Amino acid sequence: MAQAKITVIGSLNIDMVTETDVIPEQGETLIGSAFSSFTGGKGANQAVACARLGAVVTMIGCVGEDAMAQQLREALDAENIDTTYVKTVPYKSTGIAAITVTEGDNRIIVIPGANHCLLPEDVLALKEVIAASDMIMLQHEIPLETVEASIKLAHSLGIPVILNPAPAVRLPEQLLAQLHLITPNESELAIVTGMERKSTPEELLEQYPNPIVMTAGSRGAYYKGADGELGHIPGHTVEVVDTTGAGDTFNGALAVKLSEGASLQEAVQFAVAASALSVTKLGAQSGMPLRQAVEAFIKQSG
Ligand code: RIB
Repeated sequence: MAQAKITVIGSLNIDMVTETDVIPEQGETLIGSAFSSFTGGKGANQAVACARLGAVVTMIGCVGEDAMAQQLREALDAENIDTTYVKTVPYKSTGIAAITVTEGDNRIIVIPGANHCLLPEDVLALKEVIAASDMIMLQHEIPLETVEASIKLAHSLGIPVILNPAPAVRLPEQLLAQLHLITPNESELAIVTGMERKSTPEELLEQYPNPIVMTAGSRGAYYKGADGELGHIPGHTVEVVDTTGAGDTFNGALAVKLSEGASLQEAVQFAVAASALSVTKLGAQSGMPLRQAVEAFIKQSG
């Protein structure tokens, strides 16, 4: 099988992770349990997930002029990801994410820094790179105009786009209609579309007019294909250490499988398994599994 060619347009951050048993109240100071720093950013995380799962990956994004940028470049190089189009922006800081992990779950504040210097013209200048891809992946940690321009360009070239709309903002219907897939969680779906939250995930998906995969944490994921058929893949029970990057792993796995020609059901099943494995280690990229591990896990889970 030919390797999938995936281009990720998105953010690169350094994640500053604080572990604590208790979240401080406003105005309160607490002693936490540990601090670590990792390479991250939703874009870079998706790129690493795709590379580990067997795709040929190109990353388009911006870093600042500092030591963190070097750390991010080295991490992507180590995964054989093409960083030719990761631009260094003079006098800017690389993006950072301040992450607090409590009982496996996270709270994140992103300071975009250089990520917000990725402009529509940067992507439009890379028409050939987009045209040579099997799939484009996007998220919302770069300017919204750049996300929109990328979707329109890829659509005009007939290249499918998966958008993970996180952090969520309202998007125009015409733009949503140009996506191959959107992959929000339930609250992101409500923000992106303005749809009311209904009682069941199926009701929500029925209301949404386009193909969609809605992630649901430990409950797995719900999907609706281009033919309107609904499905649900339940989650796996694993020991959760850190959920940071689980969504990025999910999106990467989905993109790889779909680019290889798998059905939406197969791709979602693969993505649910990959993201379950990813939460068993601290750090967004540390737990991202290799392809063989995901296949073995699916086999073992029956
Ligand atoms: O999705 C997880 C990512 O969100 C983290 O790596 C952090 O950088 C933020 O962008």
